[in-house]
Amino acid sequence: IDIKSLRSVTNGVITIDPGYKNTGSCESAITFLDGEKGVLRYRGYSIEELAEKADFLEVAYLLIFGELPTAEELAKFHADIKAQSHVDEDVKKIIDGFPKSAHPMGVLSSLTSALVAFNPSSVNVDSEEEMYNAIVRIMAKFPVLTAWAYRKRVGLPLDYGDDSLGYVENFLKMMFKKPSREYESNQKVVDALDKLLILHADHEQNCSTSTVRIVGSSHAGLFVSISAGIAALWGPLHGGANQAVIEMLEAIKEDGGDTKKYMAKAKDKNDPFRLMGFGHRVYKNFDPRAKIIKKAADNILEELGIDDPVLDIAKGLEKEALEDPYFVDRKLYPNVDFYSGIIYRSMGIPVEMFTAMFALGRLPGWIAQWKEMRLNKEPIGRPRQIYTGETLRSFKDIKNR
Ligand code: ACO
Repeated sequence: IDIKSLRSVTNGVITIDPGYKNTGSCESAITFLDGEKGVLRYRGYSIEELAEKADFLEVAYLLIFGELPTAEELAKFHADIKAQSHVDEDVKKIIDGFPKSAHPMGVLSSLTSALVAFNPSSVNVDSEEEMYNAIVRIMAKFPVLTAWAYRKRVGLPLDYGDDSLGYVENFLKMMFKKPSREYESNQKVVDALDKLLILHADHEQNCSTSTVRIVGSSHAGLFVSISAGIAALWGPLHGGANQAVIEMLEAIKEDGGDTKKYMAKAKDKNDPFRLMGFGHRVYKNFDPRAKIIKKAADNILEELGIDDPVLDIAKGLEKEALEDPYFVDRKLYPNVDFYSGIIYRSMGIPVEMFTAMFALGRLPGWIAQWKEMRLNKEPIGRPRQIYTGETLRSFKDIKNR
């Protein structure tokens, strides 16, 4: 039965499904996810194969345009991005207005929204060319804004990278280059970040992506839709979990490393504590991204010669959870965020930037989903409700209340 005929049959009937646990919001040809089997595919390609063989920009192209690019297509996409990688100097004045302590996610969401004012042509995208230009602009400027959010926080000048470098390597340069020293990239770090960004690039109708689609469904424009997605990602139950995981692991370490104590807290229904980085709305067996990330964390720490005691605490918690009936019965396994922070930290990325890194990775997914929503001419997103408030009452004058 197609969606239109289904709607004509159910007209007037409202399904109530808080958290949309069983409600599909759209048809999509971008990402396939089987939560029972732990399968994740972008446009039909397995996440395992993409993480091993592709680079982030290739995956971005695949998600947004539907096919892996030829060498020429990829070169053109990259060249178009490079041509747009400047940000209006006036944006720096907006950044100046933030206190140094501002959370990078708040800064990023605001700046992405502010970009509309500097790129007004990105809003009305009726032709394919206008849509392409808006996509290239945000792919180009978002890494600059992400790096600037970090540089503002640590007091470094707001500077550009080097367009002759690859997309991810250039981002690392924009983050870490110092005024006094030549930046030297470490290929192992570039490769590890590339892999992490690929693993974060899309995840069908999660909270931030649904936000992007619903804001975009009012034809509000790509940049503000992404700005809203960044806000949704910020929360600790979604992308903010990667920051919360490291803070939790650090707290356990400071407290003597007693993982059993924290396992007990996580199971206690009177304690609000949750094991951050555990559980997922859809994966009920394992999160395939977590498997790849756990291995990547081991590799990068070994390659960089870092001994991070927090990795041992993480592995200890995972082992205990896998044997604990509370976690087994509820099908709670480590998710993508459980090990990612350990990798970010090994690269010198501070904890408050972790969720911004997730946003950088998720950008192509948000773009692809927004584009699909617009090309499918989806109607404005507007859920219904069951009203539970007062019935009709007559107005009381303020003196008589
Ligand atoms: N620690 C302890 N108990 C948990 C956890 C956890 N991390 N996650 C779920 N549970 C328990 C719940 O208390 C509930 O128990 P009950 O059945 O006895 O009431 C049961 O497992 C089901 O959990 P829900 O919260 O109903 O599952 P939901 O699908 O709504 O939430 C979520 C999924 C938000 C990911 C949840 O597991 C959670 O809060 N995890 C920790 C935060 C986190 O890691 N978020 C990142 C998700 S991945 C991402 O967004 C990129």
